Amino acid sequence: MLGIRKIPPLLLLSFPLLCMAGDVHQPVSASQGMVVSEQKIASQAGVTILRAGGNAIDAAVAVGYALAVVNPCCGNIGGGGFMVIRLADGRNTVINFREKAPLRATQNMFLDKFGNVVPGSTTNGYLAVAVPGTVAGLELALTRYGTMTRRQVMEPAILLAENGYRVTAFDARWFQAYASTFRTQPNVAAIFLKQGKPYQTGDLLIQQDLAQTLKLIAENGAHEFYKGSIARHIVESSNRHGGILTLEDFSTYQAEELSPLTCRYRGYDVLSVPPPSSGGVTLCEMLGILQHFSLSNEGFRSAQSMQNIIEAMRYGFNDRNTFLGDPDFVKNPLEQMLSRARMESLADKIKATRLIQPENIMIDFHENTDTTHYSIVDRFGNAVAVTYTLNGFFGAKVIADHTGFFLNDEMDDFTVKPGFANKFELVQSSANAISPGKRPLSSMTPVIVMKNGRVFLVLGSPGGPRIITAVLLTLINVIDYGMNIRAAVDAPRFHYQGTPDIVDIEPLTLSFLTSKALEYRGYHITTQSPWAAVEAVLIDKANGMRYGANDDRRPDGAALGY
Ligand code: GLY
Repeated sequence: MLGIRKIPPLLLLSFPLLCMAGDVHQPVSASQGMVVSEQKIASQAGVTILRAGGNAIDAAVAVGYALAVVNPCCGNIGGGGFMVIRLADGRNTVINFREKAPLRATQNMFLDKFGNVVPGSTTNGYLAVAVPGTVAGLELALTRYGTMTRRQVMEPAILLAENGYRVTAFDARWFQAYASTFRTQPNVAAIFLKQGKPYQTGDLLIQQDLAQTLKLIAENGAHEFYKGSIARHIVESSNRHGGILTLEDFSTYQAEELSPLTCRYRGYDVLSVPPPSSGGVTLCEMLGILQHFSLSNEGFRSAQSMQNIIEAMRYGFNDRNTFLGDPDFVKNPLEQMLSRARMESLADKIKATRLIQPENIMIDFHENTDTTHYSIVDRFGNAVAVTYTLNGFFGAKVIADHTGFFLNDEMDDFTVKPGFANKFELVQSSANAISPGKRPLSSMTPVIVMKNGRVFLVLGSPGGPRIITAVLLTLINVIDYGMNIRAAVDAPRFHYQGTPDIVDIEPLTLSFLTSKALEYRGYHITTQSPWAAVEAVLIDKANGMRYGANDDRRPDGAALGY
């Protein structure tokens, strides 16, 4: 059976044309610096900083704050994330600014008296909010590795909030979708509804409250957010609306530096994030398995290469969901998971697999790309990959008083009950159970790939668990199939996470015959609307040219260089 939405055979005949995407989809090139994000205005803010002499870290902080204004669904100061940094002097680091569970959080806080998860409680309202990390993370990055002042890098964001920006088609779609939720809160409606109606594409959206908040942060730094008026507003609002956030949650929150999670794939060094994100580990496990297959000889999107990649995804997600959690609270068996011997034995198991016994699970997956990623390289040789998030669109859909920014719903990323699937259909283990001060397991996968000690690729994506597979496929498209970075980003994707036992494919991913061949091998295949948004930069090792690729799926984004 070919899934819920069948691909018309006529469209499938056009597949060979798509295979030549490498010739058609061209990246943006520049000799010095490159900024790629989902929102052109934010990319512009980054390039402005680079042109003014700032480095990639300065630009990353500027883009982070700018996206908090011009990408309200997902860019944020009320959420958290990860930043991977490769410095021109050869040092690598990760800034972990993942949110933390409030100190009053308890393992069963989302269960009713019958032990059932209270519907919506993990995704809406103050109980869903984890202590935000973005402001601390951006501050840490700027202080340690930036060259400009906070005021300089925050200026573009403040001007965009104060003077307004033109609402994009993407914004308008999500403003419309959430209008009834905004309407229930006067302070949210005052910002995100225009005389009670959703803003339309091209409307000017001015965010005075947010401008004021950003000015306070520019003036007083993270202190204002965690120990000053902003923390007080959030805690007071939380108290009024059934939340459990305290001033102590904010005053004790700290972003931290971690060593990147690294692995090697076909001579390339992959740098990504360790737990509390699962992204780097799971990506490395999948790559470690696939290293034992000759994907290029098997052919792009052949049934055999698809089976091998799907099975690598299966093992990667199974281990992710079984073993990983915040390393401050649980031991993550990374060495065992990623050992060479284990990768080889998992690859052998895949080679021995002929037919899969599919389970009959059909789930209607509603895509929720949320999150946002941006990639930056500068002329000095620094590179930065940032993925940060509110989790769902507009997070918990609450704004504290007149702070002007949405708070995250990151508590949904925890295992709120054994066996319970979260909004991304992830069924996770007790390693990711809620504990006070613990960080929920993430799938964010900002990545920097090195070749012979030099930056080759910078990339990442939104999309929950689909982040990992979108990044995986983009890497394979470049390294195994020789695509240019734009073609690699734009190529149709597939995703498999074991539960549900369904291989999701984007339209035009597979020929009719390949779909049939995979079904014969036991896979359930369903076609879904396109997902994720990979934002990437590739540096040509021959001449140092920077090639930027904004995902075709996100036409409001831009790769901008100089
Ligand atoms: N909030 C989605 C993730 O971190 O994976």
